[in-house]
Amino acid sequence: MNPRGSESYQGSKNKVTSGDYKISPGNNESCQGRSRFRTLTRSSRLKDGSKTVMQLARPVFLIGFMGAGKTSVARRLARMCGISSVDMDTYIERQQEKSISEIFAESGEVGFRKIETEALREIATMSTSMLVSCGGGVVTQPRNLDILKSSGVVVHLMINADQAAERISNTSTRPLFQDLEAARQLCAERMPVYEDAADYTILTAGRGVGSIAYELKRYLVDEGVLK
Ligand code: S3P
Repeated sequence: MNPRGSESYQGSKNKVTSGDYKISPGNNESCQGRSRFRTLTRSSRLKDGSKTVMQLARPVFLIGFMGAGKTSVARRLARMCGISSVDMDTYIERQQEKSISEIFAESGEVGFRKIETEALREIATMSTSMLVSCGGGVVTQPRNLDILKSSGVVVHLMINADQAAERISNTSTRPLFQDLEAARQLCAERMPVYEDAADYTILTAGRGVGSIAYELKRYLVDEGVLK
């Protein structure tokens, strides 16, 4: 399985290890011996040394174009608050035992989108509400929009294709980000869909993961979703 590319400010998307919190493979939905989720047990310590663990009342879906930082922000907020997070692409790769690029090569985008919808359904109906970093194309399927809107809170991390290109160090793992002009067009087509789906939008240009994660936390606390 090819490792996925990483944004300039994040580690590998597939890394399962975590500095501050425990991965609990025995804790639901483990796959091939590895947990697909990052969970923090109630006894674990948070980064700031406190033991406070917050909870999500509903799933929170991060959407936005490739390179927006969805995975990094989800991981940072999960660690800050002691909540569980799951990255949809990683979930799919572990479930299918193939990289996203391999799935695109073997089954095309249509095949990938079917798998993606199934993964979204599974994640949206899990008993523990999680912070979910979605693939950038999740909004292209109306059936996915129904799932997102009906089961959780949707937050758009907004970025344009040029800013994304600066952040993505390795586009080879993103089959739909091979050419900047095509990516600009795709991003422009999707932008109104992201905005329509979103309950809240965070502008990410020029900002670090921590700043975005704090804004997201403030929004979720204000809305009573994160307690
Ligand atoms: C895609 C985005 C990717 C991945 C796949 C398709 C898209 O996820 O799901 O390559 O259509 O925008 P990221 O947004 O995490 O890169």
